Formats: sequence, C-alpha cells, structure tokens
Amino acid sequence: MKKVMILSGAGLSAESGIRTFRDHDGLWENHDVMEVCSTQGWIADRQKVTQFYNDRRADLASKEPNHAHKVLAQLEHDYRGRVIHLTQNIDNLMEKAGAKDVIHLHGTLTDLRCEACTQTFSVEYAPQEGDECCPHCGNKRVRHNVVMFGESAPQYSHIQEAVRGCTLFIAIGTSGAVIDIIPLAKAFKNSILIDPKRQETASTFDPHAYIDEYFENFIQKKAGEAMDEMMDIITEHMQGR
Ligand code: APR
Repeated sequence: MKKVMILSGAGLSAESGIRTFRDHDGLWENHDVMEVCSTQGWIADRQKVTQFYNDRRADLASKEPNHAHKVLAQLEHDYRGRVIHLTQNIDNLMEKAGAKDVIHLHGTLTDLRCEACTQTFSVEYAPQEGDECCPHCGNKRVRHNVVMFGESAPQYSHIQEAVRGCTLFIAIGTSGAVIDIIPLAKAFKNSILIDPKRQETASTFDPHAYIDEYFENFIQKKAGEAMDEMMDIITEHMQGR
C-alpha cells in the first residue's frame, strides 16, 4: 500500500512568522541555539532557559497556521493512516490546522514535562512560573518539554519505522543539520525536497554535492508555494500500483 512519510522542519512554520534556526547565522530569536537548547546551557542557567521557552510559548499564542500546515492537515485527514508526519518543530501549528497524528520528534512547546515520571501536561501558552507540580505524580520539578542537544530523543524510533512502512518521502523546510535527510532520501525510490534554498551537503565524502541531488523531485519554493506541485505528485503516487 502506498504511504507517505513527511519530515518537516522550521521552514514549514517560517511563513507563520516563526524564525528558523540556521537562516540567521545559527541564532534563534537572538540566542545562540546551544545556549538555550543544550544540556550544558540548561545546567548553566535553568532560569534563562525556562524564560527563553516562556517567551517562545507566549509568542506562539499569536501565530496562525499557514497554507502549508492546512494542506498537510487535510492530507492527513484525506489519507487517514497512510501519512506519517514527523516534525522537528515544537510549535502546535499543525494541530491548530486540524492535524491529529503529527509526531513531534523534538517535543512540544505548549507542554511541560515532569523530571520524575517524565509524563507531560499542557500549559497552553502560559509561562512556567516555577510553582507547578506534576498532575500525574505530584513532583515539583517540571521543565519545558523540548529535547535539547545532549539529550536522547525517544521519538526518533518512529523515523526508521516510517522508512520501512512508507513508499514516498517528503522533506519540507529542514536543513538536515540535525536529522540527516540524505540517507532517508536514498532509502526511497520516490521522494520530494521542498526548500527555497539549495543546501550543500555537510558530508565530507561528497563536498560539492547539493542535498536536492539525492531527491527524485526538488521543489525549490517556500512551503506555502510548493503545495500544489507536492499534492500533484502525492495524488499520482497514491493512485499508482
Ligand atoms: N519554506 C520552506 N523551507 C524554508 C522556508 C520556507 N518558507 N524558509 C526557510 N526554509 C528552509 C531553510 O532554507 C532551511 O533549509 O528551512 C530550513 C530550516 O533549517 P533549520 O533552520 O536548520 O531548521 P531545522 O532543519 O528544522 O533544524 C533542525 O535543529 O536547532 C535544532 O532542534 C532544532 O528542530 C531543530 C533542528
């Protein structure tokens, strides 16, 4: 059965006004990513990191899903069970667009996580004040539910599962800097890369190659502008034998 694997990154939410990570010399909202998204940064200054995610969460309240989020949510609905969408994004714009099954590989900004039982609970867009306690076990040590550099990402187990079970791979708005999309593209006969920029491979064995050379289709457009072409390819693929 034809199934689609989607791996999305910060570029998917760029047209909703949420900045990407590496389009601005590695600064994310004027912070060094490693300062606010690494275990070292967390150990060095819990309050600074907590405040950073409080600011991001508050900012997210005013952000709306863009055209690409809506098309992907509709795709999930129309092909129920035949679309596996894995996102590196911690925003909830796919859910705001109506998606139900998106797998958040790097966590979710609108949740906190208990450091004792590791279960999560929603705070929507409210700041973490420091007096919260886990509704599941009562523990008082809770934190942002975002996977930081230096931590394991348990949801990554879904990546290989999706590679095994799907027939079309689509990478949308990701530089591949954290999850290398070249091996994923090479594992599929049919694939689409959606990105307005051509990214050079970071690999040494192929220093002068571009990531799009590993994909069957390269739609060099912003996510919102690429949806019609993407849907044409998906529809033909899903109808194929
Ligand atoms: N539409 C599609 N792609 C876009 C758009 C857009 N409107 N604007 C930018 N892009 C592309 C950029 O060209 C780039 O290739 O989106 C990609 C964004 O890359 P990154 O900023 O590296 O974001 P991402 O790949 O999601 O980063 C992966 O790194 O910092 C960690 O945990 C963080 O999940 C994040 C991970």
